[in-house]
Amino acid sequence: MATKPKVIVTRRWPETVEHRIAVLFEAVFNEADEPLGREGLMAALGEADALFPTVTDPLDAEVLAAEPLKAKLIGNFGVGFNHIDAKAAKARGITVTNTPEVLTDATADLAMTLLLMAARRAGEGERHARAGEWTGWRPTHMMGTQVTGKTLGIVGFGRIGRAMAERARQGFKMRILYYDRFPVDPEIAAVLGVEACATVDELVEKSDFVSLHCPGGGENTRLMNAERFARMPRHAFLINTARGDVVDEAALVEALQAGEIAGAGLDVFEAEPKITEALKAMDNVVMLPHLGSATTETRVAMGMRVVDNAVAFFEGKTPQDKVS
Ligand code: DGY
Repeated sequence: MATKPKVIVTRRWPETVEHRIAVLFEAVFNEADEPLGREGLMAALGEADALFPTVTDPLDAEVLAAEPLKAKLIGNFGVGFNHIDAKAAKARGITVTNTPEVLTDATADLAMTLLLMAARRAGEGERHARAGEWTGWRPTHMMGTQVTGKTLGIVGFGRIGRAMAERARQGFKMRILYYDRFPVDPEIAAVLGVEACATVDELVEKSDFVSLHCPGGGENTRLMNAERFARMPRHAFLINTARGDVVDEAALVEALQAGEIAGAGLDVFEAEPKITEALKAMDNVVMLPHLGSATTETRVAMGMRVVDNAVAFFEGKTPQDKVS
């Protein structure tokens, strides 16, 4: 890179990554760590050669119509990029990259955490203990649901879905069903010990736990709706570490209130950071604030991946994680 390209980083990133960015680029950091907002994003697209956004920055067609436009690269900090209109970016000559692979394990670990917490009433138990309500051990106290040996249905069999399958199968001897628009070769499925379902409906009907690992947006929007909740067994749980819009949150509340499903473990929500009040009131719902990739190791690796992509881009190469 002959001259240092100007990059605007929309949120605070781990220190080591910000340090590397400051060395390589003419960098503008967001000291306040507040979202830039639509106008701030449009201004940034007009000022910088590259924008490094996150899931909290809606880069839709309207924002990407920014004038003047200087940015040639959007280096997203995250694997999911449904907050970016990749087609609109392409039409404006902007390359978009993401950060796959480096967050697979952390996200699968968190999905398993939520599954276990929901099944074993861990959130409820922790609140109970902290509140000083525990009166002592007894055989019928807070009985949850056994996880080992149950059936897990995975929607979206990409890297994270497969990592979840591996944990559930090897750690908890679970039977693994999956649904994906592009099923894996049956020989590979046999090696992985997973069984394909032809439809999401079939998967939800047969699963004790349904875990979502598909991208958000497009045809996956509200994939889990009232009809599919009604198809789930009444003892089943929903786990979502994918995107909030994959679940119709109002329908989920109704299904939980009606006892159509037993509980849910949620890391993502339809209108983050807002969470439907009714969900907060339910003890059989475990909620985390979008922590899927939130380990220090992973967040550093994600940031470094954005930087690697940007360096390649400004050296005239194709970034390894170009998505459009
Ligand atoms: C991801 O990488 O998609 C995380 O959910 C943060 O955006």
